[in-house]
Amino acid sequence: MNRYAKPAAEDSLIERAAKVYDFGAHLRGRAVPAFPPADEPTPPQTEPVAAEPIEADPVVVEPVAVAPVAVEPVAVEAVVGEQDAPASAEPTAAVPLPPTLSAIPAEFLSATDDDGMDEWEAPESDLAQIDRTMLAEAGMLVPGAPVGALAEEFRLVKRQLLLTAREIAGGPIGQRARTIIVGSGKPGEGKTFCAINLAISLAAERDVEILLVDGDFAKPDIMKRLGLEDSLGLLDILADQRLDPESCVVRTDVPQLSLLPAGKRSHADTELLASHRTEAVLDRLLAANPRRIIVFDTPPALAASPASTLALLVGQVMLVVRADRTTEADVREAVQLLDGCEHIHLVINSVSFEPGRGRFGSYYGQEK
Ligand SMILES: Nc1ncnc2c1ncn2[C@@H]1O[C@H](COP(=O)(O)OP(=O)(O)O)[C@@H](O)[C@H]1O
Ligand SMILES: [Mg+2]
Repeated sequence: MNRYAKPAAEDSLIERAAKVYDFGAHLRGRAVPAFPPADEPTPPQTEPVAAEPIEADPVVVEPVAVAPVAVEPVAVEAVVGEQDAPASAEPTAAVPLPPTLSAIPAEFLSATDDDGMDEWEAPESDLAQIDRTMLAEAGMLVPGAPVGALAEEFRLVKRQLLLTAREIAGGPIGQRARTIIVGSGKPGEGKTFCAINLAISLAAERDVEILLVDGDFAKPDIMKRLGLEDSLGLLDILADQRLDPESCVVRTDVPQLSLLPAGKRSHADTELLASHRTEAVLDRLLAANPRRIIVFDTPPALAASPASTLALLVGQVMLVVRADRTTEADVREAVQLLDGCEHIHLVINSVSFEPGRGRFGSYYGQEK
């Protein structure tokens, strides 16, 4: 562990983190796949922007697995006005996938997906219709809209997660390799923002089905953010063993994206989420569909919550850190709490967000 030194005032969180906190300490000695693999060309990226991510916009990828944190922050720009992403010539992976992940795309190494930018098919009536305008107004990825910087950011995050999922699928974790929890130390750091964006981005991959689960019972936001009505969900399944988890899954008009709402709150939410029942429900949801990847929005790890219990059950953790707010001590503590999971990825959400401004409103439906 590095000695803690007082950070220089002008340093960004990520720069300070790289200097004072040895993120890799928790992971050292563990098998962590290189990203990208040595025999793969580097995926296309948006123009890199020199340091200073804090004043910029949405998401900077800083995978903890690549320690220490010294990765050049990826370009972080407003989505408005971005050019379409260039087509990639990345080859398809030749390595056969392990059985549990056979449905996770071999082509995740190629840029065959459109990162949520698939053509929007006319919604079928039995599908929940996700409110694209709402997504756009919140500055989130919009299925069917042109690729922008945010989509590129999540493409990078997604690839890292898929690579790791494939890497660990053959190991003792088995099918739970297909589960990713999205966590943060405290509320308001962008868990739900990142969970929804990640799910939309992943859903654009071939041959996968994404199930976005709202496990933040204290602040269940996913349905609301997507403009959908609440319905039976995880808490109901946990509370009533007779309820078939699959019957609560809400299919949406975004191809390959389904939702599991948080469900009806009770006084025993925390205990329920930390119980063995959660494990059983996760396993059932995974077994029901071998193509399924579960993205799990969780309660903040530093609050009295079962996030650390959940971390023991899943393949990977995507820990969201808000660059303009999260302290190093909180990052450190959150990593320790979630350390039950061997694969923790850190995503720096360097938002400078002003509620109600509708900053990204013009993005929706924008033609390129
Ligand atoms: N990168 C970002 N760009 C724009 N808005 C963001 C970003 N990150 C978070 N927000 C907004 O900040 C608020 C808090 O984020 P949220 O995802 O709800 O946090 P959490 O789920 O961790 O409590 C929400 O209104 C969200 O839309
Ligand atoms: Mg949330």
